[in-house]
Amino acid sequence: MSAPVRCSPWRVQEALHWAGAQLANTIDPAWAARSLLAHALGCTVTDLFVHPERPLTAEQQDAYRSLIARRSRHEPLAYLLGHRPFLDLDLIVDARVLIPRQETEILVEKAIALAQRWSRPRIADVGTGSGAIAVSLAVHLSHAHVLAIDASHDALQVAYENARRHGVGDRIEFLHGDLLTPLCLQSRSFRREGQPPCRQVELIVANLPYVSEEEYAALSPDIRLYEPREALVSAADGLEAIFCLLDTACPFLAVDGAILLEAGAGQSKAIREQAARIFPDARITVLPDYAQIERVICIDRAERGR
Ligand SMILES: C[S@@+](CC[C@H](N)C(=O)[O-])C[C@H]1O[C@@H](n2cnc3c(N)ncnc32)[C@H](O)[C@@H]1O
Repeated sequence: MSAPVRCSPWRVQEALHWAGAQLANTIDPAWAARSLLAHALGCTVTDLFVHPERPLTAEQQDAYRSLIARRSRHEPLAYLLGHRPFLDLDLIVDARVLIPRQETEILVEKAIALAQRWSRPRIADVGTGSGAIAVSLAVHLSHAHVLAIDASHDALQVAYENARRHGVGDRIEFLHGDLLTPLCLQSRSFRREGQPPCRQVELIVANLPYVSEEEYAALSPDIRLYEPREALVSAADGLEAIFCLLDTACPFLAVDGAILLEAGAGQSKAIREQAARIFPDARITVLPDYAQIERVICIDRAERGR
C-alpha cells in the first residue's frame, strides 16, 4: 500500500500566486488576494511582503481558499473583509448595506464645513445605509445632533453598530421610515396649539438611490449580484427618490437651512432645476468628484440669491 500523499503547507508566496489564476476575471485580483490572505492569517498586507516564506496552517489555507472562491464569484472585497474605510473611519459593512463610496466623502466634507454656521445644528441623513455619513458627521461635529433615517431596518442595525463602535451611538437618533416622514409629528388632533407639524433640521444630507433600471442591468456583477438593490435603484431615470425628497423637504428645513444631495453622472442639471423650482431663493451650487462628475448638489437657503 502506498503511503498517503502529504501536501506540504502553502507559503505566502505560493498562496498569492495560486489566487492570481482564480481571480483572473475579477477587478484588481492582486490586491484582493493580498487583502484576503492577510485577513485569513490575521496579519497586515505589509506583513505578507516582509514574510513571504511564512507557512499557512491547514485552517488558514482552508479559510483563504474559501474567501478566494467567494471573490471569484464576484462577492465584493468589503463584504468578505467585513469592513471598509470611509474618510478617517473604519466602518463595518455586510450585504445589508451599500458599500460606502469615495465620492460620498465629498458630501461629508462639505456638510462639515457648512455645519460650522450653526451653534447646535440638527442634521438629517436620509438613506443612512451603513451610517457612513451620519457617523462621520457625529464624530466630526461634536455640537451636532444627527438623525439617521432609512427605509431598511437591516441597514439601521448596521448604522447603529458603526455609531456605537465610533463612540457616537448616543448622539445619533435612528429612525425607520420613508424619506423625511419619521420627522412628522403626530396627527393634527394630537398636536398642541402652535406646535409645528414636523421637526425641523438645519441640514438635510442624502445619498439616496439614483441608478435607473437600465443602468442597473449594466452594472458589474460585484454590485448587481451582492449590494442591496433598494439602495441603488430608483424609478424611471433614477431621480424619483431625490425628487420626492426635494418635493417634500420644505417644511422640514429651517429657514437658514441647506440640503446636500449626492447625484449620479448626468443628473445634476435636472436636480438643480427641480431644486430651483422648489427653493427659488436658495443658492444652488455643485461640487465635482475626482473624475470631474458633478456629484454633490448644495441647496443653501441662507445664501438666498447670492
Ligand atoms: C445609496 S444607499 C446610501 C447609503 C449611505 N448613506 C452611503 O452613502 O453609503 C441608499 C440608502 O437609502 C435607503 N433608502 C432608499 N429609499 C429610501 C426611502 N424612500 N426612504 C429612506 N431610505 C431609503 C436604502 O435602504 C439605502 O440604505
